[in-house]
Order: sequence, then structure tokens, then C-alpha cells
Amino acid sequence: MSNGASIGIFDSGYGGLTILSEIRALMPEYNYIYLGDNARTPYGTRSFDVVYRYTLENVKKLFSMGCSLVIIACNTASAKALRTIQQNDLPHLAPNKRVLGVIRPTTEIAGTLTRNGHLGLFGTEGTIDSMSYNIEIARLFPHVKVTGQACPMWVPIIENSEAESDGTDYFVEKYCSALVGKDPLIDTVILACTHYPILKDKIQRHLPSGIRIVSQGPIVAESLRNYLTRHSEIESQIEKGGNCLFYTTENAQKFIKNASIFLNEQISAETII
Ligand code: DGL
Repeated sequence: MSNGASIGIFDSGYGGLTILSEIRALMPEYNYIYLGDNARTPYGTRSFDVVYRYTLENVKKLFSMGCSLVIIACNTASAKALRTIQQNDLPHLAPNKRVLGVIRPTTEIAGTLTRNGHLGLFGTEGTIDSMSYNIEIARLFPHVKVTGQACPMWVPIIENSEAESDGTDYFVEKYCSALVGKDPLIDTVILACTHYPILKDKIQRHLPSGIRIVSQGPIVAESLRNYLTRHSEIESQIEKGGNCLFYTTENAQKFIKNASIFLNEQISAETII
């Protein structure tokens, strides 16, 4: 199936759908291709080398399907693979194509999100251990204290459609109290994993009242719009048909069923190996 020149959105699984839906709401005119590597999710506990290899393979797939711009809608892959792909692979692989991530748009405004300078961060082990957010935010907003908490159980829970189960509360409470225990002054928490917005209501219930939870979707969408305005050489390559195709490396029927939880719409999807 072909969609013409499109914007590719890639995630290890379903999480990137929370980014895709915000991007499409803001810019419905473009063609999009979503690719979830559901067969190999989660990425969050995998090594740097493995995340890099998987991410590069998926970026190449999206390029071969006609994407001239790929958004890595996964914090783990953005933290562990994006820079190497941009600096080492892209120049010889596809010098006229672009690959962007989700960490930079978020860190660029992170300091404006907190009122008292105490920022919390939920992410996968890979994202938190990489210190990517801490390093970037310290550079741009030196007065902001960033406290991270890895939540290794949340992505498997969401990928297995257990977000609404009672048992999930145990793991939401566990990581929420661990974060607040490290810095009780936190007034804002960034969901630095694209899967986590699915748990937003539960997270809100288990955090002390008054803490603001920020999802990345609207931030990434606004940043992409800004990017396309500034880069007409990329924008002009993307077809404006308003279509969106969905691919998964796992079973397509399972993807269709679970994706509807993220998107609130019925979609069709194909398996791609
Ligand atoms: N959505 C991915 C992220 O933003 C989840 C990573 C995973 O597969 O563990 O980090």
C-alpha cells in the first residue's frame, strides 16, 4: 500500500499513537504513516546498542515507504538512538530526509512548565538512566531541579491492555510515591514516555493534589508545526491528502483492537516484518 510522501511516526508499540493523534489534530492536512514495533516492545529495558539497531531498522522501513520526515515518537529511542542516526547514518543513508525526536521539544519548554522550579519526570529505565532530560534542562534552565523516576512496569501493563485493571493501581502508586519521596516540592510532572498518557487519570489520583501532569503530545505537535514552517524544503515534499496508514511488526488484528483505546477511532492496519 502506498501513501505518497508522508510524515512517519515511529514508536516501540502503541505509545506513539498519543503523539500521532495530537499531531493529526493540529495538522490534519498531511499524509502520515504510523509504525509500531509491537513485536519487540518494550524498548525501555534494552541496551543502547539494541535500541539503536531496532530504531534504525524502523526508520529505514519508513523511508522505504516514502516518508521524508520521521518522528521518533518514543523517548527511549530518542534518548538512545536519535543522535547517532542524525549524525552518523542520515548523511549517507538519506541526506535529504530528516529524523526528529520527542525529547528536544519537551526540554526546550520544560523550565516554563514549573512554577517553583521543582520538576518531576516519569520515564522508562532507558530514558531516566540516560539522563538526557536532566542534562538538557540543566543547560537551558539551570535553576530547575529535575527528579526522575523509572517506571518499568507501566509500558508492559499498557501494551497488554491492562491500564484499567485494579492491579495497575499498585504500580502507579508505587512509582508516584517513589518520585514524591525523592523531592516533595515537585509541582509539575512530565510524562516522558509516550505510553504514559493512557495512565494519566490514575497517576493524577496517586500524586498529591495540585501537581500538574504534562503530556508530550501537544508539545511535540506544536514543535513539529513550527519546524515545518521553518523548513519548506521538507514540508514541500509531504503530500497533503489527510491519510494515515498504520503498520505493526506484530499481529495486525491485535494492533487494530488495542490502537482504538489510544485513538478513539476504528482503524485498519497491516503487519510489516
Ligand atoms: N513509548 C516509549 C517511550 O516513550 C516506550 C518505550 C518502551 O518500549 O519501553 O519511551
